[in-house]
Amino acid sequence: MEFARLIQGGMGIGVSGWRLAGAVAGCGQMGIISGLCLDEMLTRRLQLGDPGEYLRKALDNFPIRKIAKNILDKFFKEKGKSECAPFIPIAASTEEERSDILVAGSFAEMYLAKQGHNGAVGVNLLQKCQRDAIPTLFGCMLAGADFVTMGAGIPREIPGVLDRLSCNEAASIRLSVANSTSEDDYRVNFDPKRYVEAKLNRPNFFAIVSSNVLAITLAKKSNGQVNGFIIEGATAGGHNAPPRGNLPLSESGEPVYTDKDRVDLAKIKEIGLPFWLAGGYSTKGKLKDALQLGAQGIQAGTAFLLCEESGLMHELKELIIKLKCKVFTNPFASPTGFPFKEVKLADTLSEPEVFKSRPRLCNLGYLREHFRKPDGSLGLRCAAEPIKAFLSKGGRSELALKSKCLCNALFANIGLGSSYSNGYKEAPLVTAGDILPHLDFVYPGITAREVVDVLLA
Ligand SMILES: Cc1cc2nc3c(=O)[nH]c(=O)nc-3n(C[C@H](O)[C@H](O)[C@H](O)COP(=O)(O)O)c2cc1C
Repeated sequence: MEFARLIQGGMGIGVSGWRLAGAVAGCGQMGIISGLCLDEMLTRRLQLGDPGEYLRKALDNFPIRKIAKNILDKFFKEKGKSECAPFIPIAASTEEERSDILVAGSFAEMYLAKQGHNGAVGVNLLQKCQRDAIPTLFGCMLAGADFVTMGAGIPREIPGVLDRLSCNEAASIRLSVANSTSEDDYRVNFDPKRYVEAKLNRPNFFAIVSSNVLAITLAKKSNGQVNGFIIEGATAGGHNAPPRGNLPLSESGEPVYTDKDRVDLAKIKEIGLPFWLAGGYSTKGKLKDALQLGAQGIQAGTAFLLCEESGLMHELKELIIKLKCKVFTNPFASPTGFPFKEVKLADTLSEPEVFKSRPRLCNLGYLREHFRKPDGSLGLRCAAEPIKAFLSKGGRSELALKSKCLCNALFANIGLGSSYSNGYKEAPLVTAGDILPHLDFVYPGITAREVVDVLLA
């Protein structure tokens, strides 16, 4: 596979969906679908009536007919659910059903992104969401994924998982479990033969890293081939790697990054694999800088967030462009413990009063952390769940007080937010890179192709 100069970064949940990734790949660059929550994405959109019939067409091509039928029978609502009715929770499904929905949802998203062009489409995963990683990768591989990107952790086992899945062999990854001992070995297992008996294309694997030490470790110690790196700086949208060491926060309360956090590109070049630079490259002329630094190209997210094909709600895109919103790096917002960039915007969780008025509940649970219970069994907790529950599971109170429910907020960003019988509707929380207020070339209605043209110019 020949690698392009430009990668459109994965943006969860559903911001970089099949429309955006397909549009970028159609321009001959590399498009990425977000691989987060693709089970809930599928079932929620089916419950809204699947406008345009896209998902039903994708499911028509899903190789296991019975699974596609079961999903449609359970979730598809021809006229769409009423606005105030809650979504059917996936949590009520059995483990097997959940795996089926995740494989089918991932297949559907990748299948749609691959239609109408011969370009390369990848899927982006967060290392923190370990439980769903293998079924998501498998569903995407069934639909012909060309590459995988993964960050927010040390994805050492993913190259081997891709090797095994491509050979139709069972795969597993070791779970990170708080309080576990060195003898513990908690794993998530997955057998592709439950779905098909077929060999599949092995996608390229690009690790997203913020340090040369991590890049070298991954290149040397992964259980399979790493094919390249995305070197992401702390100005990038979404989650950021925390700064090295125990540094104080700035006056405004943001993490302070220093020279220790700078990636030594000479060391990256020595590895001999292609790399793309990300974080602040979402604008004119930056590709040239990256090429001069020896990169294969750039990865951009923020500019694509605002384009027509991104999944972000139109009203939010227009407001953000009009108001030239600022971005705040919140060290405590994300239950993952990683700094998370928030777009400062009224009526979203970036505002303290909107955050305080949200009744705490954890009904999606994608960012929950595994912990070892005293009897050795596994528990799950999220710093954004009701505080009493979190503390009773050994969670730390300073995390709980400031953590926000990203799962629900990010679904609200793309128009798939939950509403409840008491009238409460989940509020959005948009993320973007520091470059956001400086993107002069972006206007309401700009297309992905126009963004590509500007970034490549
Ligand atoms: C709205 C948004 C959501 C993002 N979500 C993710 C994500 O789920 N996983 C990930 O690895 N990176 C995520 N990113 C980072 C992008 O993939 C990309 O690396 C980054 O945006 C590049 O820097 P830039 O924001 O300066 O363009 C996100 C970025 C944005 C703007």
